[in-house]
This record gives sequence, structure tokens and C-alpha cells, in this order.
Amino acid sequence: MKAIILCAGKGTRLRPLTYTTAKHLIPVANKPVILYTIEKIKSAGIKEIGIIVSPENRQDFMAALGDGSQYGVNLTYILQEEPKGLAHAVLMAKDFLGDEDFMMYLGDNLIMDDIRPFVKEFEEKKELSALIMLSPVQEPSRFGIAVMEGNKIIKTIEKPKEPPSNLAIIGLYLFRKDIFEGIANIKPSWRGELEITDAIDWLIQHKGTVEGHIIYGWWKDTGKPEDLIEANHKILDEIIEEFKIEGTVEASSVIQGRVSVGKNSEVVNSVIRGPVIIGDNCTISNAYIGPYTSIGNGVMIENCEIENSIVMDEVKISNLSFRIDSSVIGKKVEISENDGKPKGVQIIVGDLSKVIVSR
Ligand code: DAU
Repeated sequence: MKAIILCAGKGTRLRPLTYTTAKHLIPVANKPVILYTIEKIKSAGIKEIGIIVSPENRQDFMAALGDGSQYGVNLTYILQEEPKGLAHAVLMAKDFLGDEDFMMYLGDNLIMDDIRPFVKEFEEKKELSALIMLSPVQEPSRFGIAVMEGNKIIKTIEKPKEPPSNLAIIGLYLFRKDIFEGIANIKPSWRGELEITDAIDWLIQHKGTVEGHIIYGWWKDTGKPEDLIEANHKILDEIIEEFKIEGTVEASSVIQGRVSVGKNSEVVNSVIRGPVIIGDNCTISNAYIGPYTSIGNGVMIENCEIENSIVMDEVKISNLSFRIDSSVIGKKVEISENDGKPKGVQIIVGDLSKVIVSR
């Protein structure tokens, strides 16, 4: 079995972060979101992975992940010129997939459950044309939805206004080659995309059986900043087992709970309350770093307080009289406060940035 990971969308809800980084490469607990997906796929014994990329993000993926050998997988980059829909992305991977059964994984989705039983079920039930992972959700109209009869899916609908069920398609699918017949027989939807839900519906009507595999564990579509913060929280709590102090923690500092400090990083006269992960080459001085904070490499944090946040590489934060909370701070951002006059806030930020100041 091979796998494809779909990463060619525009990531508009995560702008401005996605102007410079594909959303799948944004770090959560100091690791790009897509690496969690690659590890999951590998855990199911699949090593041949195609990554569907766009012309804008192809180079970034290749630079970040290379040929995959350092992660024990073999990566092939497959170009989708325009994001014309999930089924269109699958079509772009036809040569790579050949006639094999395959896994399709939406690259921005994080799934905590063990996926091995899901793959095993598909391998055992040879009569299935597709097996789709589903999970009950509160707001079904935001997702592709499946209507079930027993284990069978009898209908799939993309983001219905009046959802007939609360079972969402969460971004992990197993297919046999007949999905290509389904894709050949569908037309673009009202939003101009070739929808995988329509191709699945075609399979249900014309081919073998499609079943749903329901999970109840935590999963997340990391499409918005608050989703990244929640994912960071969850991963720092549950996934990372080993917290290590490799840098220097000077004696006047207090480390509480599970904290990692990377190589060549220094913590001086500060309080770090875990779970917190700090990358390499960072300086933290006279600061408070609160729970659920991930700090990348080469970051300087001085005379300030921060918690429940993601801070990316080479950020500088200094001399703040307020605490930074629940924030996502992109690479090389600088935030500081000084005693200059007139009193006020000077803001130099790119398009679609967000600055929220509480009174
Ligand atoms: O999060 C689960 C939902 O994901 C499902 O319930 C929906 O059925 C499914 O259509 C999808 O909806 P989204 O609106 O979240 O899809 P999004 O546009 O975010 O794309 C999902 C991933 O696929 C993302 O990593 C980008 C990639 N993609 C998307 C399109 C439209 C491609 O690689 N090519 C594309 O043409």
C-alpha cells in the first residue's frame, strides 16, 4: 500500500503565517504538523509516500523534508498546479499510485488514534471499495458528512447546510484503484472543485461497498490559529514523552514540571512552568514561560511573560509590561516595549496580521 498526503491548498485562514510557510510546515511542539502525519503513516507500515504540493510551496517541502530518508520513508513530490479539489489532487497522483490500494491523508489534519486497526480492517475486507475514517462532531456543516446504515456508508455530502448526520469525514481515507473510475465520472461542484465526496458517492452507487471506521479520540483540522494552539496543548500533554535539559539553566532559575531546553540555550533568572519546549540556541532571561508554550530555535525572550503560545524561530521578545497569551508568533518577529515619548504603540506588521491589545 502507498500513501498520499494532500498539501496543495492555499491556507487562507492561517494568513499571514501561510504567506511564508505552508500550513503543514508550521511547527506544533517544535515539529512541523506534517511530520506527525508522516510518522502515523509509517506506523501503519507504509513507506512510499507521495506529497501533493503546489507550485508555491513545493520548494519549501523539499527543503524541509528532502527524500524522507531521515524519517525512514521514501517521499515523492507530486505537483498540483491549482487546488482544484481533493479528487483532482488524487488524479495528479495516478502515475505514482499505479494500481495499488492507497491511503489518502489530508496534510493539515492531526489524528491521535492508532491508525493500524483502520488499515488492517481494509486489508481484511477485500470486498470494500473504500474505508473512510469518521468521527462525531458538534458542527457537521463545516465538514464532509457520511450517512451510515450499520457499518456501510450510504451517502457522503460535502459541507451540507442541513446535515443529515453528525459523522464527519476527518481526512483519512483508504481506496482501491476503482476510485479513479469514480473521479472520471464526476463534475466540479458549485465551488468549482472536484470533490472526493462526490467520487465516493459514485463508488457507493456504482461499485462495491464503502464503509466507515468511527474514531472517538482527539483529532484536529489545523486550519486556524486557535487550532494550532489547541494542537500544541494536546501534543505537549500527550505525545512528547521525553523532556530533556540539554542547554544551561542558571541557578537562580526555577524549572517546574516537564520542560525541555535545547542545545546551547540558556535560561537565566527565569521561571519555566511546563509543559514547555524550548529549542536550540535560545536565550531566556528574567522571564516567565508558562504552560503549553513551544519556543523554536534562536529565540530571545527577555524581561517578559508568555504562556500557551507557539513562538517560531529567531523571534525576539523583550521588556513587556503585559503577558503574551494564546498567541502564534511567526519567524523573526520582534516585540518590545520602551519608555519613549509620546506614549503609544508602534506597529509594523504585514498584511492580515492580528494585534489584540486588552485594556
Ligand atoms: O478536515 C476534514 C475536511 O477536510 C473533510 O470533512 C472534508 O470532507 C474535506 O473536503 C476537507 O475539507 P476542508 O475544507 O478542510 O479542505 P481543505 O481545503 O482545507 O483541504 C484539505 C487539505 O487538502 C489541505 O491540506 C490542502 C489540501 N488540498 C486541498 C485542495 C482543495 C490539496 O492538496 N489540493 C486541493 O485541490
